[in-house]
Amino acid sequence: MQPAIAPTTAIEPTRLCDYRPPAFWVDRVDLQVELFDSHTVVTATLALRRNRQSAQSLDLVLDGAAELQLLAIHCDGEPLSPDRYQRQGETLTISGLGESAELTTRVQLDPAANTRLEGLYRSRAMYCTQCEAEGFRHITFYPDRPDVLAEFRCRISADKQAFPVLLSNGNCVASGDLDAGRHFVEWHDPFKKPCYLFALVAGDLAVVSDSFVTASGRTVALKIYVEEKDLDKCDHAMRSLKAAMAWDQQRYGREYDLDLFMIVAVDDFNMGAMENKGLNIFNTSAVLANPSIATDATFQRIESIVAHEYFHNWSGNRVTCRDWFQLSLKEGFTVFRDAQFSADMNAAVVKRIEDVSLLRTLQFAEDAGPLAHPVQPQSYVEINNFYTVTVYEKGAEVVGMLHTLLGERAFRQATDRYFEHYDGQAVTIEEFVSAMEEASGRDLQQFRQWYWQAGTPELDCHWQWHEATGMVTLTVAQQCPPTPGQATKVPFHIPIRVGMVGANGDLALSADGATEQLLELTARRQQWQFGPFTEPPVPSLLRGFSAPVKLHVDYSEEQLLHLAGCDSDGFNRWEAMQQLYQLAVHAALAQGADSPVSAPLVARFEQLLNDPHLDAATAAQLLTLPGESELFERWQPIDPEKITAARNSVRAQLVAASAESVRSRYYALQSDQPYAPSSDQIGQRALKNTLLRYLCEFAQGEPLAVAQFQQADNMTDQLAALTALLAAADSSAAGAALSSFYQQWRHEPLALNLWFRAQATAPGVEPQQLRALLQHPDFSLTNPNKVRSVVAAYAMANLGQFHRRDGSGYQLLAEVIIQLNAINPQIAARLVVPLTAWAKFAEPYRTAMRENLAAIGNCGELAKDLAEQVEKSLGG
Ligand code: TRP
Ligand code: ZN
Repeated sequence: MQPAIAPTTAIEPTRLCDYRPPAFWVDRVDLQVELFDSHTVVTATLALRRNRQSAQSLDLVLDGAAELQLLAIHCDGEPLSPDRYQRQGETLTISGLGESAELTTRVQLDPAANTRLEGLYRSRAMYCTQCEAEGFRHITFYPDRPDVLAEFRCRISADKQAFPVLLSNGNCVASGDLDAGRHFVEWHDPFKKPCYLFALVAGDLAVVSDSFVTASGRTVALKIYVEEKDLDKCDHAMRSLKAAMAWDQQRYGREYDLDLFMIVAVDDFNMGAMENKGLNIFNTSAVLANPSIATDATFQRIESIVAHEYFHNWSGNRVTCRDWFQLSLKEGFTVFRDAQFSADMNAAVVKRIEDVSLLRTLQFAEDAGPLAHPVQPQSYVEINNFYTVTVYEKGAEVVGMLHTLLGERAFRQATDRYFEHYDGQAVTIEEFVSAMEEASGRDLQQFRQWYWQAGTPELDCHWQWHEATGMVTLTVAQQCPPTPGQATKVPFHIPIRVGMVGANGDLALSADGATEQLLELTARRQQWQFGPFTEPPVPSLLRGFSAPVKLHVDYSEEQLLHLAGCDSDGFNRWEAMQQLYQLAVHAALAQGADSPVSAPLVARFEQLLNDPHLDAATAAQLLTLPGESELFERWQPIDPEKITAARNSVRAQLVAASAESVRSRYYALQSDQPYAPSSDQIGQRALKNTLLRYLCEFAQGEPLAVAQFQQADNMTDQLAALTALLAAADSSAAGAALSSFYQQWRHEPLALNLWFRAQATAPGVEPQQLRALLQHPDFSLTNPNKVRSVVAAYAMANLGQFHRRDGSGYQLLAEVIIQLNAINPQIAARLVVPLTAWAKFAEPYRTAMRENLAAIGNCGELAKDLAEQVEKSLGG
C-alpha cells in the first residue's frame, strides 16, 4: 500500500535573497512587565527612527504573535486612531509616521498557558523567557529581527513574596515596594542588542555568588540563581565560568564588559542554554551537577555549555547576526571556540574524537538526507528547524579549517580585527570570511563554498611507491553528492594534513625534514610527491580530521594495524582502529554474523587492554566500535537488524577472546580516590565502565555490575552499572537495580532523567515498556528534558530497538510527535528527524517509516515547524 502524501500546506519560505534593511530603527526600548497570577501585562515604549537607507514602504511593520491581546496603543503620547494601525496574522502595521516617533503598546499575555517555551512562560514556580530566534514577538509588538539593535530598560513588578528575585539584562538601577504586597526592580542594559538577547526572570530563587577580576582589573560579580534545593549543585558551573572568562582573555583577548554576569537554571527549556546579555538562562541539565547526581559526561557538557554561552558575549552579542541566515556566524564560531577551550581543559585528542564521532553520526546523516542544507541556508520556513548539527558542528569545522589554513597567528589577527571592526554591529558570514582574508592576505573565494554548498565531500585517495626513486605519489580526487536544490557542486578548498609512517614511525616528507605537511586540495583531482624514502611508507591522511569529509582509502588490514600502532597522530591511530572494526563488521555482514573476527584484530584488541603506556581515556575510545548510526551511513539500504547483529558479533568475539584481560583490567581500574571530574579520573572511569559493559554483555560480568552498583559513590559508576545490567546477557538483576535507583533518586529530576534514559536505551526494551514510561507519574510531555530522556533517547540512541521490523517503534514515535505538535512544536519537529531518513532503509523498515511520517502529515493542523520537516522528507 502506498501511504498517502501529506497535504502540501502552502508555507512561504523566508529567503536570504529577500533580505532588506528595516524601515525603522529602534534606538531605545522601555519595557514594563507586570506579572499577576492570572495574566501578565507588557507595556513597551519604542523610540523609533526612520532608516534613511531603506527602500521599504513608509509603514512601520512590527511583529507580534496572534495571542497578544492589544490593550492600548499610543503614538507620541496620543492614542493612535484605529485607521492608522492594522493587525494581520503575525504583524501590526502602523501608517503615517514621520522621521521619528515614540510608540507605546500595551498587551496582555498568559504565560501559564505557554507550553511552547518561547517568549514568556512559567517553569515550575518561576517566570522566564526564551527569545531566540523569534520569541520576543510573543512578548510584545516589535521589529523582531537581529539587525535592529536597541538600548533596553526593563521594569518588572510582581508579588514580592512569591517572586522576590526579578532579573533582566544589564545593571539593576532601581527597586522598591509597591501596593498590595508587590515590588518592582528596574534594569538597564547599556549595550545595544537585538531583542533575541532580551531576558527576564522572576522567582523565589537562591543564589551562589563569586567574582572574577578581569585582565584590566575590573571586578565582575558572578551569580548563579537556582531553586534553594539545588544550591549544592552549582560549584562546577561556577568553576567552569571563571575558567572560560580567563581563557577568552588569554586566547582571544576578549574581556567581559558588564559588572555583573548571571546564570539562571530553569527546568523547562527547549535547548541547552541561552546567551542573553548578562543573564544567561540555562536548562537545569546544562548547569546543575554534583558527583552523586551527575555523570562525568554531564560535568564535561556543563563545562562546555557554560563556556559556549559565555563566549557568545563576543561572538554573538557584541558582534551579532544581520539575519538568521547568518546563524552559523555566531554558532559555528562559538562551537569552535568552546571546542578549543574544552581541548585545553581536558584530553585534546579525546575531545576531538568525540566531536568527530558526533559529526559523523548526526551531521553526515543530515547532509545525506532530505533535510540537508548549507551552513548558510538559502531559505527556511521555520527558523527553529535550522538550529542543526550542520549550522553548529559543521559550521565549527569550517571555522576550524580557516584556523588550520591561516595558522594560529593570522587567525588570531583576523578575529581581533573582526571583533574590533564590527563591535556593536549586526553582520554577515561574509564579513567574517573577509576579516580572515584581510588578516592573512589569502584568497578564500573558493573556500566560501563550504558555507554555500550542502553535502559531505568524498575524497578518493590512492598512493604509489616508486621503488626506483623512493618517491611516493599521492592522488586525491574529490566529489560531493547532490543535495536538495543542489544537483551539482563545484570543488571545495580542502585542507588535508598528511604524514608518512614508516616501520619505526613518522618519516621526513622531503629534504627539509618536516614530518607533516598541509595539502590544499582545490581541484577535482590533484597529485603530490613525497620522499625519497628508503622503505615504502603508509600515508597517514587527514590527520586530526582536518576537514569534514568522507575519506576513501584502500588500506589493507596490515597497513591499518601499522597506523593504529605507529602513527604519531593520536586521532589517526584511533581512526585506523575504527577502520579495522569496520572491516570486521563488513566481514560479518558479508559472511554471516558467526564468521570469525580476524586473528590480528583480536590480538590488537587484547594488546590495547594490556598496554600500560596508553592513557585510559584513549584506551576506552580505542576499544569501542563505531556506533550503529555510523555503520548505518556505510551500508545502504540499511538493514538495522543485520548491522546490529554483525556489530554485536564482532564485539562478542573480541571480548570472549580476551575475557581474562578485560576482567583483570577492570579490577586494576578500581580506585578509592575521592571523586573529582578531572580528566585523569574521567578517563579511568570511562575505560572501567566500557569494560564492565563488555563483561556484562559477553562474559558473565553481572556480579561485578551488581557490586559496583551497590558500592558506587558517584553517579558515573552507579549509572554505568545500571546500564550494564540492563544490557547484560542475564538481566535478572536489572529490575532490582532499577527500583533501588528510583527509590534513591525519585526527588531529583535530573537523576530521574538518567533512570528514564537508561530504560529507553536498554537493548531489550519493548514498545509497551516505552509506553509504560510515558504513563509514569514522573514523566511529562511538557518537560523537554523528560521527552528527550525517553523518546529522543529511544529513537536516536537505541537504534536496534527503534528500528523494529513490525514498525511499532516508529508508530510509538509518531504518536508522541502528534501529541507534541500541539504542546511544543519545536520539540516535535526535532523528534521527527529519525523518520525522515526512510529512503536510506531497506524494506520493510522503509515503508513503515514513510507511513508513519505520512500519518503525522495527515494528523490535522501541523505547526509550521513540523510541517516543514515532514513536507521536505516526503515531498522529495
Ligand atoms: N543560542 C543558543 C545557543 O546555542 C541556542 C538556543 C537556546 C535556542 N535556546 C533556544 C535556539 C531556543 C532556538 C530556540 O547557545
Ligand atoms: Zn550558541
